This record gives sequence, structure tokens and C-alpha cells, in this order.
Amino acid sequence: MAKASPQFTCSECGAVHKKWAGRCDACGAWNSIVEEAPMGAGPKGPLAKGRSIALSTLQTDEAPPPRTLSGMDELDRVLGGGLVPASAILVGGDPGIGKSTLLLQATAAFARKGLTTLYISGEEAAAQVRMRAQRLGLGDAPVQLGAETNLRDILTTLDTERPDLVIIDSIQTMWLDSVASAPGSVAQLRAAAHELVTLAKRRGISVILVGHVTKEGQIAGPRVIEHMVDCVLYFEGERGHQFRILRAVKNRFGPADEIGVFEMTGGGLSEVPNPSALFLSERGQPSAGSVVFAGIEGTRPMLTEIQALVAPSPLSNPRRTVVGLDSGRLGTILAVLEARCGIPFTGLDVFLNVAGGMRVSEPAADLAVAAALLSAREDVALPADTVVFGEISLSGALRPVSQSENRLKEAAKLGFTTAMLPRGGKTGPGIGVRLRELGDLTGFVGDVFGA
Ligand code: TYD
Ligand code: MG
Repeated sequence: MAKASPQFTCSECGAVHKKWAGRCDACGAWNSIVEEAPMGAGPKGPLAKGRSIALSTLQTDEAPPPRTLSGMDELDRVLGGGLVPASAILVGGDPGIGKSTLLLQATAAFARKGLTTLYISGEEAAAQVRMRAQRLGLGDAPVQLGAETNLRDILTTLDTERPDLVIIDSIQTMWLDSVASAPGSVAQLRAAAHELVTLAKRRGISVILVGHVTKEGQIAGPRVIEHMVDCVLYFEGERGHQFRILRAVKNRFGPADEIGVFEMTGGGLSEVPNPSALFLSERGQPSAGSVVFAGIEGTRPMLTEIQALVAPSPLSNPRRTVVGLDSGRLGTILAVLEARCGIPFTGLDVFLNVAGGMRVSEPAADLAVAAALLSAREDVALPADTVVFGEISLSGALRPVSQSENRLKEAAKLGFTTAMLPRGGKTGPGIGVRLRELGDLTGFVGDVFGA
């Protein structure tokens, strides 16, 4: 019989490779491929017959299970309107970003709403978690605390306690003695998540798994288990900023792409109910290169400031530095400006940034990016009361984007009086913002910069 060959798995994204390589083809991560024990020899001969599984129709008299609201609006919205019973949720994020803080606060909030909750920490001692809870003013919340990494014991405890909600902080510290590889390996992570999710579904327990996003291959990352859970949330933020964004990237019970905004303070995370005002609060006098973009995050309109700096470059290959936006998109917009409007950026360094540590991924930001680049290049400030949005096509035409009306309403709410946007969008009647509708990028350049 042929020897089962070893298998190589990327610990970032879980892709399986035949051979070891320095870089994963699937996700581009370096040094993330690790060898896993073979899955055992394949079946010999025809598969023995199994039993028939029970089938049923789609009809049901059961009402949808009631969701529980934590009262933390930012969290409830990202979950799609509260916590669904027996759901499995993964919360990923960089180490130190505030996952444990967020989940301790969330657990306490759910406990105060009447759920029985269990918080299991594999990273901190119970006394440490207790101290943090005291500091956050959660000392009196009816949360049960455990400090354990042995999953067999945790599963037994869950089976007897049957809480409504359990937090596993973090899934990478958990280990099963039946899996012959080190804690934190891909095999352990998969097995641990599988056991927890299965038990949760069978016993009607909601489970929240915390996963660290890792930079090296020794510890498997949360992407490896994304497919096993109902809901994947990432907690993001810039080190230097106090803003933290909880972003849904997958949700079986609500819209994906929804975000919740928090601020890290001395007393834990506080909610930011009006992020536009916060993201724009740091804006000073109108300056060249600064443009306010009216965006949509999930179901919510959000205004952010896009900043550009364009300066003569001493380098033969000028810099293109982007923070908070897609660098490929910047390349496209620069190319369209050059090819369709005759405005070159050769010999110029370009720096582009979204203020406040926010990340923007909508194509609707194209026009705001172009406006910021032009404003920086020409050293002309846009009027302070103007917001910009719209998608730029490769031909230089401007395309209307979704939810124009919501974007305009948010702009009006924050005191903006003019919007520059593509012609033909559904803007609705009487928003109270003056519309400067444009057909293409050349028209926009002429209108704003008189070129
Ligand atoms: P933590 O929740 O431990 O991060 P994670 O679980 O994602 O690794 O948060 C750690 C950071 O949060 C730490 O750098 C200190 C900061 N922090 C505050 O600023 N205020 C607070 O009230 C708390 C509890 C933490
Ligand atoms: Mg932690």
C-alpha cells in the first residue's frame, strides 16, 4: 500500500498544497505553510453502506428564534439585530486590539439581559479577567468565569452547565488531546472549532470564538475556521488611533459589511453612535488635498475625510503610499486621470490616506480620491461645505452609485450644502443639498479646477 503523503496547509487561509513553499499561492502570505500529519490512508474497497438520513420539507410552524439584544447598539447591529440562539460567531483581530475587552463587555451586557453566560479564558488567569472586569465597572454582572485550555474539560462543562452563551478566548489556545499536533496548529484549531460548534448547535448554546490574526506560520489564523461558523466579525483599528471598528464579513443572520464603531478609552470600549461627526471632528480649515467622501458602510451612511499629498519625487520610481484604501484602485485612478484628462503624475510622489484609521473599500470613493489627488496636485482646496462621491470607469465616465439619497441625507445632517456626484443617480426629492451632477471626469476637472 502506498504511504500516505504528508499534506501542507497554509496557516493563514487554510489552502492545501502538495509541497512546501515559502509563499502561499492562495493568499500570498509568506512563511505560513506548515506540514500536517496525513489524514490516514484512503478507504479500501467500496464504502460500507450507511443509514439513510432523515429528510423534511421547508414548511414549519416554528417562529424564528428570538434574538437577544445586548443593548450595545453598535454590536447588535453588526450581529444583524442581536444574538441568534445557537449561533457560532468568530471574532478575529490583531493581538492587543481589544477583543477580550469587547467580549467581556458584551458578555456582561448579555448576562444583564438575562442570558446565562460563560467566559472561558485560555490566555489570562481568572483573577486577571476579574480585575479587568472591575476596572470596566462590570464586577457585578452575572458572568461565570473559567480559565482553561483543555477542550475536553470545557466541552464536558458546557454539556452540564448548558449556558445560553459561551465565549472562548482564544480558540488558538485550546487543545484537544485526541489531536496529535501542537496547540495553535491548523489541525488543533480546526478540531477545536468543529467540536465547539457541533456542541453549540446540538445543545442550543451560542458560542463566540476569539481568534488572533497572526503574522507568522507557527500559529494558525482565524481564516482557517471562517467556513465553520455562522458569523465572522473582524475587530480592526490603527495602533495610533483610539477608534475601533467591528466589521461583519460573513453573517448568515443579517447583512454582511455592517460595521460598528467603538472608541478605546481608559474605561474600556465606548460606542460611537455618530461616527461621521467623529471622523470629521479632526478636520481643520479647508486645505488642499482634503476631500469629504460620503460613503456607506453596511446599512449606514458615513462621512470620512480622504487626504492626499502630491510632491515632486527625487526617486526614479515615485512613491505611491496608501493607508485605508486599495492601492490598486489608486493606480487605476491615476491612470484614468492621465489617459482621459491629460493630467500626469509622473515624477510625483503620491500619498493617500483615510483620516481616523477608517478603511474604505467602496468604488464610490473613486471620485473623492480623484478630487483629493487633483486638489493636492493643483494646490487648490475644495470648498469646505462640499461632499464628493461616485465611481469612475476606465473610460473616464462617472457612474452613479447605490444609496445616493442616504449619502446626501447624512451630508445634510452634518451641515454640508453641496454634493458633487455622477449624473443619473437616484437622489430623491428635496434633500436640502445643492447637487453638482457630472457626466465624466474631464467635466469634473473643468468644473472644479477650471482646467
Ligand atoms: P485586549 O482586549 O486585551 O486585546 P486583545 O484581546 O485583542 O489582545 O486589549 C488590550 C489593549 O486595550 C491594551 O493595549 C490596553 C487597552 N485597554 C484600554 O485602553 N482601556 C481599557 O479599559 C482596557 C481594558 C484595555
Ligand atoms: Mg485577549
